[in-house]
Amino acid sequence: MRQAVLLAGIAAIAAASPAPSPVSQGIDFAAINAAPSPSVTGPPISASTQSVVYNTASVVAEGSAAVTGVASASATASQAAHSKRTWWDFGWSWGIQPQPSPSKSTTTSQAQPAPTTSKSSSSQGSGSTTTSKSVATSTIAQSEPTDTVIPTVSEACATQPDGYGPKVQPDTVVAFEAYAPFHQAAQSAKAPAGYVSTFVDLNASVTANTYLGLQTFTSYDVTSCSEYCDNTTLCTGFNIFVERDPSVNPSDNCTNPASIINYKCTLWGSGVDAASATNVGQTRDQFQVVIAGSDGFTKVNTTTPASPPGWQAPQQCGSHGSAGHNHPSTCIGTSFFPGPYNPLLCASYAAAQNAINAKSGYSGSYNPLKCNFFNSYMLKKNGSPLGTYCGLYAQQYSGNDADYLPGWQRSDFWSIESSWGFSIL
Ligand SMILES: *[C@@H]1O[C@H](CO)[C@@H](O)[C@H](O)[C@H]1NC(C)=O
Ligand SMILES: *[C@@H]1O[C@H](CO)[C@@H](O)[C@H](O)[C@H]1NC(C)=O
Ligand SMILES: *[C@@H]1O[C@H](CO)[C@@H](O)[C@H](O)[C@H]1NC(C)=O
Ligand SMILES: *[C@@H]1O[C@H](CO)[C@@H](O)[C@H](O)[C@H]1NC(C)=O
Repeated sequence: MRQAVLLAGIAAIAAASPAPSPVSQGIDFAAINAAPSPSVTGPPISASTQSVVYNTASVVAEGSAAVTGVASASATASQAAHSKRTWWDFGWSWGIQPQPSPSKSTTTSQAQPAPTTSKSSSSQGSGSTTTSKSVATSTIAQSEPTDTVIPTVSEACATQPDGYGPKVQPDTVVAFEAYAPFHQAAQSAKAPAGYVSTFVDLNASVTANTYLGLQTFTSYDVTSCSEYCDNTTLCTGFNIFVERDPSVNPSDNCTNPASIINYKCTLWGSGVDAASATNVGQTRDQFQVVIAGSDGFTKVNTTTPASPPGWQAPQQCGSHGSAGHNHPSTCIGTSFFPGPYNPLLCASYAAAQNAINAKSGYSGSYNPLKCNFFNSYMLKKNGSPLGTYCGLYAQQYSGNDADYLPGWQRSDFWSIESSWGFSIL
């Protein structure tokens, strides 16, 4: 027992150590790089329709599961918002922190009932009063696709559905790629109301962590694709493209069948950028699937996320949501969830953290154990959306207080979109 208390005490002091610069306390890039992608990052090759069913309960459960134990901000009083800090700020968090009464009592009460929690939590070594960092490792319940329509088409040589495009002659990859009407359709497409164009007429479709479904249309129907996105929870971007598909399912007795042309529309819980248009098709037996006329549209900069229950309407952080909050001394914890952008993950994480911390008892307008504010954003690496990043804070901030732009880390460029700050009700 004595040993456990001592260890927790050391952890609390370590957490209070000031960082040389706030940026170094920002995102744990190594953990993000190690996080597995969701199980599905685009439609299966033989699908013509796929819905991703949104399940609120599993999102809430996933957010809550990020909590590993009691976590506390290192600062014992509210702090100036901006990250340029004086020696006095450091003195405050370093010199006075080791004996704060709220976190000391928490350390004691937490260390006794939950030794197994301490052991099973990550490299921080203790689930007690350290600032917590976690990365969700499970597959993402919210983006588990269901309802895939792959009728009998998976049987050998079975006729494939749709194929509403023209019969391009000769029936070759080269003729498909050169077929001018596909490029014209893509180049002349106007952004639907509320959307902006992000890329035009590429020969590749989007693959990313934020996949939300597939529809196949009878024409290059940008308006329907946007309506499909508008009708889908979390959707803020879509990709429409022309695909050369096999007319029958290629197999031994039909290795290289005639082609059909499909107009496909995929939905994304993020922006869609050229950087994630990386799927150039594939070979199915001898048949070559290829893509043309791929356009991207997004409404990510103009979409205000819904307020989760218990939280106020959010404030956009930085220019069009492009900056994160990074206030190490008032930060209670961070977590990352690969998949579509969803602030409800952060709200659930915050609520679960507060529920555990409240057992340690807290009161007052500023309390290092109480998450009063969270920041959620879509984290992007080299232009590709990875998932929702959450930061929990003891103190509330305005959108202008967000100035964290992750930028270059070695050879990777990291950026932020859809950054919103939510204050507790
Ligand atoms: C797509 O393919 C066409 C035909 O091969 C080619 O002319 C065009 O440059 C390609 N577009 C891109 C963006 O690579
Ligand atoms: C979107 O929803 C509206 C209203 O429910 C419906 O009329 C429309 O057909 C839907 N569009 C798509 C493409 O799903
Ligand atoms: C291919 O055709 C042969 C002869 O008709 C038949 O015996 C065999 O089962 C077929 N193979 C497949 C995979 O359908
Ligand atoms: C969204 O806003 C950011 C920041 O102003 C900007 O860099 C980005 O290009 C915008 N994205 C779109 C799709 O308009």
